[in-house]
Amino acid sequence: MQSRLTFDYRNATAQAVGPENGVSKTMLDGVAGKVRAEHARLQREHAAGAQRWMDLPDNTALAGEINDFANANRGSYSDYILIGIGGSSLGAIATVMALGHPYRNLLSAEKRGGPRLFVLDNPDPEKVKATLDVVDLKNTLVNVVTKSGQTAETMANFLVARNALEAAVGEKQAAKQIVATTDPKEGLLRQMADAEGYRTFPVPPGVDGRQTVLSAVGLLPAAFCGVDIDGMLAGAAAMRARCTSDDVFENPAYLLAALAVLADQKLGKKMLVTMPYSDALYGIADWFRQLWAESLGKRLSIDGEEVFAGQTPIKALGAIDQHSQIQLYTEGPNDKLLSLIEVDRYRAEVEVTGVPANIPDLAYLEGAEMGQLIDRECSATAWALTQAKRPNFTITVPEIDAGIVGEFFYLHQLQTVMAGALYGVNPFGQPGVEAGKNATYALMGREGYEGLRKELTAKPADGGEYTLAPN
Ligand code: PA5
Repeated sequence: MQSRLTFDYRNATAQAVGPENGVSKTMLDGVAGKVRAEHARLQREHAAGAQRWMDLPDNTALAGEINDFANANRGSYSDYILIGIGGSSLGAIATVMALGHPYRNLLSAEKRGGPRLFVLDNPDPEKVKATLDVVDLKNTLVNVVTKSGQTAETMANFLVARNALEAAVGEKQAAKQIVATTDPKEGLLRQMADAEGYRTFPVPPGVDGRQTVLSAVGLLPAAFCGVDIDGMLAGAAAMRARCTSDDVFENPAYLLAALAVLADQKLGKKMLVTMPYSDALYGIADWFRQLWAESLGKRLSIDGEEVFAGQTPIKALGAIDQHSQIQLYTEGPNDKLLSLIEVDRYRAEVEVTGVPANIPDLAYLEGAEMGQLIDRECSATAWALTQAKRPNFTITVPEIDAGIVGEFFYLHQLQTVMAGALYGVNPFGQPGVEAGKNATYALMGREGYEGLRKELTAKPADGGEYTLAPN
């Protein structure tokens, strides 16, 4: 398979939007050496056994195992509850959103070709209860996904779902309807899975949660929903093959990384907006938002200096956000770089007809194809942003399919790793998230977190009153 994405970054250049807002050739030349050196470092690290996420597209044996399991079990379940949060669910959500029917859960089982998919990520009691209200527990597969095996939200959701399942089908049968995707050796969920005899799939060691979409974390739910996971891996491999050059002008992942980091550091573009003109690709914008934020938002540089790095990722949806955000993006603070995603051929053709003859001002819509309309809106937005000197680039998708989704996943992961190198931060790990996770454990009374609990529940030193409650 060949990579099929097209990149057009003319509107992000100084020629298009002026030297205060656009990246110049000189600026790109200025980072070309660093990109080359960092590329060589990544290659060396990979050869030495690190950067394991780069190998995930090759895991066709795992994909085969997942396909066998999904093919054998898909027909047995009406519902699939995916329990996981952040990197443990966003990739699967993005995949099924991109490749499944937009109203997949409402289709008949036959048309759907697999169970309905429900995701328990947030531990919002209303959503948890509502999910358990609508699924048919006797015919539900529960897939709990956590790399660490102990995330509070995930484990709480899982325990609640497991109780409901046991109440519906009994303990023994419940254990057969649970699949745990977790570390092969470590963690609390691994202990539980081994003790209860759950079927398990591995979260690859040495790969951060947000880079696991091409492992069992993303592939298992996708396969159950009928996604061509081999095609996804092939697309990711095709993008990897396209990204072998160390030349910033040749390698699309490095070019996007350089554009974003230069726009942030040299031009004050502190935000990166990803705006697909496709409902189906909105999940990819959401997945990328987490990847970019958690990987690059770092207080310390790799040398241990305080740098407070990162660029705030924003997701927007074309054309809807033309009626919501674009006013701000075009006339508000010029502090954003925009990435527009355009689709050449939508998977449906819908023609507008029936314009009343007595309303000539609507005549331009008669016979218009909707894909053409939304596509022209994307071009029009790119033009309007450029006129307003707002840097933007466009990624063009020929047609949304499994290969293209795989391409996006690999592209954005490499782009993020190179952006980390250009910022001089470690894109792996998430110390800021861990702080919040630990505080949650402490507030919930987890053993071993007593000191932190004391600190968190201490009264403010000045004894002041800062809350407003209704009388
Ligand atoms: O990218 C990451 O590592 C995080 O977003 C994790 O995926 C998230 O915090 C969930 O962690 P876990 O899979 O350990 O439950």
